[in-house]
Amino acid sequence: MCGIVGYIGNQNVIGVILEGLKRLEYRGYDSSGISFYCENDKKIEVIKKSGKIKDLVNEIDKRKLCKSHIGIAHTRWATHGEPTDINAHPHTDCTGNIALVHNGIIENYRTLKSFLLDKGHRFKSETDTEVLVHLIEHFYKNDLLEAVKKSLKMVEGTYGILLLSSYEPDTIIAARKGSPLIIGKADGQMIAASDASAIVSLTNQILYMQDNDIARIKKESIEIYNIELEKTSDSDFEQIDLTISQIEKGGYSHFMEKEIFEQPEALTNTFIGRIDFENGTFRLNGIKEKFKDLLNADRIIITACGTSWHSALIGKYLIEKYTNIPVEVDYASEFRYKNPIITEKTVVILVSQSGETADTLAALRESKNKGATTIGICNVVGSTIARETDCGIYTHVGPEIGVASTKAFTAQVLVFFMLSVALGRKKYLTFEDGIKFIKEIQSVPEKIKRILGSQNVFKSLDSIVETNYIKNNFLYLGRGINFPVALEGALKLKEISYIHAEGYPAAEMKHGPIALIDENMPVLFISLKDSIYDKIINNIKEIKARKGYVITIASEDDTEISKIVDKVIYIPKIIEDLSPLLSVIPLQLLAYKTAVKKGLDVDMPRNLAKSVTVE
Ligand code: M6R
Repeated sequence: MCGIVGYIGNQNVIGVILEGLKRLEYRGYDSSGISFYCENDKKIEVIKKSGKIKDLVNEIDKRKLCKSHIGIAHTRWATHGEPTDINAHPHTDCTGNIALVHNGIIENYRTLKSFLLDKGHRFKSETDTEVLVHLIEHFYKNDLLEAVKKSLKMVEGTYGILLLSSYEPDTIIAARKGSPLIIGKADGQMIAASDASAIVSLTNQILYMQDNDIARIKKESIEIYNIELEKTSDSDFEQIDLTISQIEKGGYSHFMEKEIFEQPEALTNTFIGRIDFENGTFRLNGIKEKFKDLLNADRIIITACGTSWHSALIGKYLIEKYTNIPVEVDYASEFRYKNPIITEKTVVILVSQSGETADTLAALRESKNKGATTIGICNVVGSTIARETDCGIYTHVGPEIGVASTKAFTAQVLVFFMLSVALGRKKYLTFEDGIKFIKEIQSVPEKIKRILGSQNVFKSLDSIVETNYIKNNFLYLGRGINFPVALEGALKLKEISYIHAEGYPAAEMKHGPIALIDENMPVLFISLKDSIYDKIINNIKEIKARKGYVITIASEDDTEISKIVDKVIYIPKIIEDLSPLLSVIPLQLLAYKTAVKKGLDVDMPRNLAKSVTVE
């Protein structure tokens, strides 16, 4: 939930870690701080500030800084203690000789804190993290690594930590359990961070730390130990495929806007190498070994959070339709607190853009414990979920930085479609069906481009925003495969424009929510010319009869609908099962434009963070 970065090398450390922090700001942005070792004074200095990283930079600019080539930094999403200067990381021990940044949660911090208070330690903050640095101080007897090991053994919870100490001023100690941490190596320089975006400006040589790893990082060398401090042989760096331009805005005002507009190209990357014309199917090499398990599954469970959960609902619809295999969709946050029915013939699919979401990871581990075959649908290559599942399918849409997920959603839906067709082809879909589906998928990027390039779409959106940005509530209604799109549209509006919005199955309206309808309630329908078009028109009429303001996403050949609704956004025709890929685009834009109109911080909405690595 937070971002951490540490650097040791020939460059002035402040510039490097601040650049890294800015790249990680999407992970948390309520306060931030840095700590570095002053070579002349031979002591650790800490600067921290509540607010965004620019507030920290202003604070740093006021100071006269010493020479330093080693430091750590943190950008926070508060869990324990409000986002104040004092609660910001890094945290230090009583002597100020050890500084630490932490991403995760120390669950037993109360017990540890009272133990440390009894020993005379003085605490400055309300955070769970501060106990860890005092614990290390408590155990320190001229061997930092040993003190870290002893402390981590007492900790319950999750952590990715970086530690700096004047006791060993040429070393950063890193450790991980449950929170991501990677290390990058360049000539005479090492950098450690929560994710690769903070590293790629320096190097593409990356090492993924594993759970329970502790690393001693020096300028020219790295040693990896397990929690017993036995050296592991696993310190292989690999080359990653990520460029700076992929993580910059490239002329757009916001990452979210960029990511919406990237979708034609991004989705092409999702399907392009997977088309198998010869066999009228899709080649999903990542799950080759477990494909039979899927085909023979007694049940498939898909589990995920947020937007990824919405794509899972679409996945259920498609897999059941093309394979007849029963599919259940679970919130990952609920999964381990019930009794998920798993047999050795159950396959669990974990969907996660980041591949680091704590609840989804916990659901994965629970599924593995119970003997299920596990398959990941992730975007971030090398992420924890991608590595811990038996196998998986990457969405390959490049880094998604905007907190509101856009291109990851459409790519996940596309992956579910390809997976369903590939499985269906082994069941009852014909070769001709397969070819038809391939052609339909190939038409998707062009059709999204048409929406994104349409003046009419943008004119309608602008006038909808103008009328409705001041509203407090919104309803999104859809049916069938477009019901999850209604949920997704509502989530987008909530998270970035702070308007309360609810997604609902259109026909369920009359069982309660219709009581909310009056002239102040904008109701957005997804009413495409599909198998349930007539039914949804009836639902629209029910709203209009109660003076509701109706906006609809309609098929471009629907000449009638404008007569019964207030605003229409037309989208190109496509087969029903791929329609979410088009119907969601205006909803992403509507949320984006509303947030911009309201002057809100689109990429860093309040209270949120991009990847939720705490429970
Ligand atoms: O990285 P993940 O796909 O696992 O993230 C899951 C949710 O936290 C995420 O989709 C969240 O709901 C987004 N902010 C939605 O836009």
